[in-house]
Amino acid sequence: MISTTSDISFLRFILLQLFVNIAKGASIFNVIEFGANPNGTTESTRPFLSAWASACASRLSSSIYVPEGRFLIGFAEFRGPCENPIRVQIDGTLVAPIDYNALGNSGHWLLFIQVNRITVVGGVVDANGAGFWACKTSGQNCTVEARSITFNWVNDGEISGLTSINSQLTHLVINSCKNVKVSNVRIVAPDLSPNTDGIHVQSSTNVTITNIIIKTGDDCISIGPGTRNLWMEKIQCGPGHGVSIGSLARDFIEDGVENVTLVNSNFSGSDNGLRIKTWARPSIGFVRNVSYRNIVMNNVENPIIIDQNYCPNNQGCPLQSSGIKIDQVTYENIQGTSATQVAMTFDCSPTNPCVGIKLKDINLTYLDIKRAQSFCKNIGGTSGGVIVPDNCL
Ligand SMILES: *[C@@H]1O[C@H](CO)[C@@H](O)[C@H](O)[C@H]1NC(C)=O
Ligand SMILES: *[C@@H]1O[C@H](CO)[C@@H](O)[C@H](O)[C@H]1NC(C)=O
Ligand SMILES: *[C@@H]1O[C@H](CO)[C@@H](O)[C@H](O)[C@H]1NC(C)=O
Ligand SMILES: *[C@@H]1O[C@H](CO)[C@@H](O)[C@H](O)[C@H]1NC(C)=O
Ligand SMILES: *[C@@H]1O[C@H](CO)[C@@H](O)[C@H](O)[C@H]1NC(C)=O
Ligand SMILES: *[C@@H]1O[C@H](CO)[C@@H](O)[C@H](O)[C@H]1NC(C)=O
Ligand SMILES: *[C@@H]1O[C@H](CO)[C@@H](O)[C@H](O)[C@H]1NC(C)=O
Repeated sequence: MISTTSDISFLRFILLQLFVNIAKGASIFNVIEFGANPNGTTESTRPFLSAWASACASRLSSSIYVPEGRFLIGFAEFRGPCENPIRVQIDGTLVAPIDYNALGNSGHWLLFIQVNRITVVGGVVDANGAGFWACKTSGQNCTVEARSITFNWVNDGEISGLTSINSQLTHLVINSCKNVKVSNVRIVAPDLSPNTDGIHVQSSTNVTITNIIIKTGDDCISIGPGTRNLWMEKIQCGPGHGVSIGSLARDFIEDGVENVTLVNSNFSGSDNGLRIKTWARPSIGFVRNVSYRNIVMNNVENPIIIDQNYCPNNQGCPLQSSGIKIDQVTYENIQGTSATQVAMTFDCSPTNPCVGIKLKDINLTYLDIKRAQSFCKNIGGTSGGVIVPDNCL
């Protein structure tokens, strides 16, 4: 029943908005109109999911709008397929419950699954990870754990302008996706927070990651099996454990990693720089065609490292030999300082030596400039230009 003047003017307003949206060829779903509460204390999961359901069913390309404010959100699954492209514009902050048990045991906090053509722009996501880290570091069995944002089976996705802080586990996961762009993202968690990887990419093709600042407790970027055509550019890493391909060879039947590029990036105070890490276990996996160019190291513990002897507690690695075949890895114009004496480590598999390693214009120094060393085992390749420390190829 429309009875009062204010109801009529409200209706007029809604109709006007509808016409404007149709004229723009898009519809806008503001989470506030679905009952979301921006005061940070009243949970807004259901309103967000309702906004998603409307956007997903929309016959026009649509936007979900999250205005300024703090929105308390529990586990939320944004599932596709949807009728049309969706843009999620976030001006506010999404916060997870302080009690990490409240997120349940799906492994995720904000999960986008089986969605094509999804763009997430702006905003802050704060997973409030401290309680979970405390559980982990105290050695308890913390069974519920959540990655902050996950793209699972997403094609043509984009995340930009977002800040992710204090994830429980990985901040951002790109898994089983095609054509995903991540840009202008900031990721922050304490140096000592356990397993808080910045971005994890796995089983995905055509992913580009550009203009990212990552300060976290584990890998800045970790690259798992089945990653193909990954382009990373303008990455600032540290503190953190570097940009790591691996750990690979966890399983015998495992997909390879191919066509990975990292350019114009820098590392500062991180535990590693450019790392490839594989278990010393049999596997049919491989790493092929990786290129690192124009990288600055600032006091990095292992600026360049291939470690094929990973086997914590010496368990489950009967022959201490990795099945992963590493082929065509190029390091070009890598400059700066190492925080440890061995600035370049190539510890390759005795049964599957690294081949096609290329070094060109490397200058990594330690303390009084001349003391850095390199370590090579089971490696073949070529080199050119200045190579400091001594070329052990
Ligand atoms: C947040 O909004 C809810 C619902 O209006 C209210 O019950 C609650 O007291 C508010 N919390 C604060 C801190 O304002
Ligand atoms: C941790 O708890 C889960 C569920 O209660 C149980 O299945 C698992 O075996 C436990 N793990 C350890 C190492 O105690
Ligand atoms: C990856 O990108 C290339 C170049 O744009 C394109 O030809 C190819 O089809 C893409 N691969 C997938 C799996 O989408
Ligand atoms: C590190 O990289 C960022 C992004 O490319 C750049 O803005 C910054 O100047 C670089 N810092 C150093 C010390 O090279
Ligand atoms: C790797 O890149 C090359 C050149 O762009 C391309 O021909 C090849 O198909 C790519 N490999 C994979 C597995 O996509
Ligand atoms: C290696 O990967 C790069 C970047 O994806 C690509 O341009 C190049 O063609 C690839 N080379 C081979 C031999 O596949
Ligand atoms: C390597 O870098 C150091 C420190 O920046 C510099 O003093 C030295 O001249 C460089 N060496 C070469 C061979 O470029």
